[in-house]
Amino acid sequence: MLGPVILAASRSDQMRRIVSAAPVTKPVVNRFIAGESVLETIPVVQETAARGLEITLDVLGEDITDPSEALRARDAYLELIEALEPLGLGVRAEMSVKLSSFGQALTGGHELALKNVTPVVEAAAEIGTTVTLDMEDHTTVDSTLAIHAELRQRFPETGAVVQSYLFRTEDDCHALAGAGSRVRLVKGAYKEPATVAYQDKAEVDKAYIRCLKILMEGEGYPMIGSHDPRIISIGQELARRAGRKLEDYEYQMLYGIREAEQHRLAAEGHRVRVYIAYGTDWYGYFMRRLAERPANLAFFLRSLVSR
Ligand code: FDA
Repeated sequence: MLGPVILAASRSDQMRRIVSAAPVTKPVVNRFIAGESVLETIPVVQETAARGLEITLDVLGEDITDPSEALRARDAYLELIEALEPLGLGVRAEMSVKLSSFGQALTGGHELALKNVTPVVEAAAEIGTTVTLDMEDHTTVDSTLAIHAELRQRFPETGAVVQSYLFRTEDDCHALAGAGSRVRLVKGAYKEPATVAYQDKAEVDKAYIRCLKILMEGEGYPMIGSHDPRIISIGQELARRAGRKLEDYEYQMLYGIREAEQHRLAAEGHRVRVYIAYGTDWYGYFMRRLAERPANLAFFLRSLVSR
């Protein structure tokens, strides 16, 4: 029941100020976020890779209000790519970007986001890796998929994300299941109205399985973005039925969540990619993690009272 309240708070500036200023917040935030800078994050990337896992990196930031902030987002990714190059990880360390941080919600935002994200995709390709476009709230889906299609003309491996809670997503999965596509399927992390999205968790889970079946039976590369044990084992079964080998799909989980499961899957020979977020603008990302799981919220609240 608390999830929607926390998701509403994730968009509130007043709550942002209160939560960010609380002295106990930092240690709890650090459970989900690798660091505040590239320098702090690179050792986490190296450690993760050394343990046989793959990585997707997110420089935190969203909901910007000024085009100059979009340029800062672009430059932060370019700085990251420069720091990744000497590690020589190639596609084992890719990037995840939120187009809102590249200016998508500003006036002329579609063109602005495309213009700002293109150099990042180019620089990623130069070091032999790629970029996946995270999906944000439902008002951005058409624009994000159009930018994805545009980028794929030059960089066919650019990844997309689809959210099973949206009614439209089965159709999007059919459209995205062609050869060469890379599609991360997630349940969805935003507060969406009943006009566009399933509200009932069981319906979201059922839709996830329908969508995953479409992607597994297609010709692209499905990326199963979930910590849910049921989804993880159904994913394996759908892949087997579709005749896919272990290298024909991957699991993705967030940094700090179900690490033992990440290692168990990797030890079984699965490709597992960890979504590592870093940066100073962690508020929205952190609040969505709290909203997803009562245990995460309890962990935060316990740290407030046990000071
Ligand atoms: P869900 O939260 O429904 O939990 C189901 C079950 O999983 C739980 O009952 C429990 O058994 C287990 N579980 C979950 N968390 C656990 C924990 N911390 N410890 C132990 N067990 C746990 N969203 C979005 O809208 N746009 C995006 O671009 C992305 N990108 C993205 C990338 C990656 C790599 C991941 C993993 C997720 C996203 N998401 C996202 C977030 C996604 O939409 C969703 O909110 C979260 O993944 C939570 O949903 P789950 O499928 O993990 O299970």
